[in-house]
Amino acid sequence: MKNLKIKKGQDLYKKAKKLIPGGNMLLSKRPEMFLPDFWPCYFSKSKGCVVWDLDKNKYIDMSIMGIGTNILGYGHSEVDKAVLRTVQDGNMSTLNCPEEVFLAEKLIELHPWAEMVRYARTGGEANAIAIRIARAATGRDKVAICGYHGWHDWYLATNLQDSKGLEEHLLTGLEPNGVPRNLKGSVYPFSVNNIEQLRKIVSENKLAAVKMEVQRSIPPYPGFLEEVKSLCSKNGIVLIFDECTSGFRENLGGKHLKFKVNPDLAMFGKAIGNGYAINAIIGKRKYMKNAEKTFISSTFWTERVGSVAALSTIKYMEKNKTFKKIIAQGKKIKNKWKELSIKYKIDLDIISMDSIPIFLFKTNHEIKKKFIINEMLKEGILASNIIYVSISHTDEILKYYFRKLDKIFHKLSIISKQNLEKEANKSLLLSHFKRMN
Ligand SMILES: Cc1ncc(COP(=O)(O)O)c(C=O)c1O
Repeated sequence: MKNLKIKKGQDLYKKAKKLIPGGNMLLSKRPEMFLPDFWPCYFSKSKGCVVWDLDKNKYIDMSIMGIGTNILGYGHSEVDKAVLRTVQDGNMSTLNCPEEVFLAEKLIELHPWAEMVRYARTGGEANAIAIRIARAATGRDKVAICGYHGWHDWYLATNLQDSKGLEEHLLTGLEPNGVPRNLKGSVYPFSVNNIEQLRKIVSENKLAAVKMEVQRSIPPYPGFLEEVKSLCSKNGIVLIFDECTSGFRENLGGKHLKFKVNPDLAMFGKAIGNGYAINAIIGKRKYMKNAEKTFISSTFWTERVGSVAALSTIKYMEKNKTFKKIIAQGKKIKNKWKELSIKYKIDLDIISMDSIPIFLFKTNHEIKKKFIINEMLKEGILASNIIYVSISHTDEILKYYFRKLDKIFHKLSIISKQNLEKEANKSLLLSHFKRMN
């Protein structure tokens, strides 16, 4: 890519760091997660899988796609049309929006085991609601978790008991500062596919809920989810599937439908609104009714755009079987990464759901990843080692991405270890400075 100048975004982020603690609202979108000093940081426009930064540079997004929100691509015309109509007609009023009922009907139609639905705007909130319902229903406090479930006190309390509690579920070294100390001992993490660990937790504690992602990087072994379910039902524990990320990506609904294991409650987020804020908690009536026996209520959970966007997104997914395309493109990406790794003798682990493929370098992962981000950015591509596949990732886009990645892997295969770090930091710096002068 010629004339790449990234200045306005960098300058704005410097200002943001003085005004906004942490610089922004989401860890995964911080430039520090990519290339701190060169990442474009902000967008002015997005469409399909194309993003424009503040300096009018145009990039193909082969990375987190809004962190998995935009399965139909950015600014999808059908979803946006429905949203724009809602904005024109009014998105808020003293009365409730009918679409929240229509969406509840649709979600129950797709998940016949569920009978009732509540909404929230974020995944963290939706999980906090599900936990509150489970605690209210059982009269118990303790929960076991497996996966990432948001930022709230109930979840971060895991690290009060053991500072490494969330190491394998979220991040290392997360401080539970500000989380009430008396929540210590209320959350017990267990590892993916470790039924014995969960059995031990259940035998030693009276749990209100087991909350887990049905699949993230590692799929459940055949029978694992059934074993968890049976353990829960024998012990009066509410089983909650967190499908914030796995839901509506590889099938029309929760991924648990594919595994043929139904929980007591499930929640969806990310993909269901194609970029508009909406999360849903669905569940069996006998549990969901407990939402009436506690206080769960919020102004913006009634806002209309979220439900409209979800109805329109799900309608489009159903009609066009988008999940088939997503899986097909994800498989192609995994295969091509494998091919490149063989061609250039670069050892990779290729993991995760087909809809969210990830590669990990077997040696010096972090610095090699940085090298890839840097080289790709120079080519006008936002990329690291993970792709949230969307339907806008067409064969043509993949071809373009892999043409560039082939060149970059070749460069990586011949570069000496000493030069790798230098290159990762230097090359963009040069083009950056050239443009600024
Ligand atoms: C499985 C899972 N649960 C919960 C969350 C939190 O969602 P949010 O960031 O909308 O609060 C996420 C977000 O990445 C997630 O992947």
